[in-house]
Amino acid sequence: MSITGKAKLAGVMGWPVAHSLSPVLHGHWLETLGIDGAYVPLPVAPEDFAQVVAALPKMGFRGANVTVPHKEAALAAVDEADALARRIGAVNTIIVGEDGRLFGTNTDGFGFLENLKDGAPGWNPPAGPAVVLGAGGAARAVIVALIDAGVPEIRLLNRTRERAERLAAELGGPIAVDDWDDRAARLNGANLLVNTTTQGMTGKGVLEIDLSALPVTALVNDIVYVPLETDLLAAARARGNPVVDGLGMLLHQARPGFEAWFGQAPQVTGDLRARILSRLDGG
Ligand code: ATR
Repeated sequence: MSITGKAKLAGVMGWPVAHSLSPVLHGHWLETLGIDGAYVPLPVAPEDFAQVVAALPKMGFRGANVTVPHKEAALAAVDEADALARRIGAVNTIIVGEDGRLFGTNTDGFGFLENLKDGAPGWNPPAGPAVVLGAGGAARAVIVALIDAGVPEIRLLNRTRERAERLAAELGGPIAVDDWDDRAARLNGANLLVNTTTQGMTGKGVLEIDLSALPVTALVNDIVYVPLETDLLAAARARGNPVVDGLGMLLHQARPGFEAWFGQAPQVTGDLRARILSRLDGG
């Protein structure tokens, strides 16, 4: 990488941030598009977050991504957040305006949907119900995206039912909350199954779910991408369901920020996937 004194600057704020793949991802696009710019990891402790965000324009940054644990704090820290970020209750992308004002949006739902469109072009959102497992931060972005895509019914199941009830009440739309123990039965007639829980991730527990009631035409997606092929995806694939892994959500959610900061629309390619995958394998 070679940058000049005029380089466009952006980065990712997290705590910790060392595990973030965003610098590799944006670095790949900067390099392949030949842009004079840099995208750096910004380790920011929670107690310093508001101060660091306010300093971004003063340091000449065009913006930043925001990751765990700052996404909710970022909503409060920006001067203006769009309706999408306010509905999700979190900001993952900050753009510094010409006047130095901070604009916040959330591209996680966009990344989720683009990943499904890319990986399963035949999936038609209005064609049937979606089953969403989990009611954490990731679930919020996924559910908002599904509502906006015209999914007629969202069956939401979470280990802690009350958290799902709260999320449904806040978001509105066609969300039906059910008991976690009923998850296998609620697969009946579904057009999509998404796991947004941490279950199935390397080092976490196994996601226990009997898929026998799920139509074999239903699309199955796991937002977990370590491992890339989770037990859920392997079981779905083995019975003939179309499956999409979670890595593409990470790649696609990065596109709008990159374009806003660096002025060119980047693409999610096989090369990029391979590069990120090699990092996941411990490279
Ligand atoms: P994120 O913001 O990334 O979604 P999170 O807010 O910690 O992460 O949410 C993790 C999700 O995984 C939650 O839905 C959580 O269920 P609870 O709300 O009941 O905590 C779910 N989860 C974590 N461990 C689980 C387990 N052992 N069985 C089922 N669900 C689990």
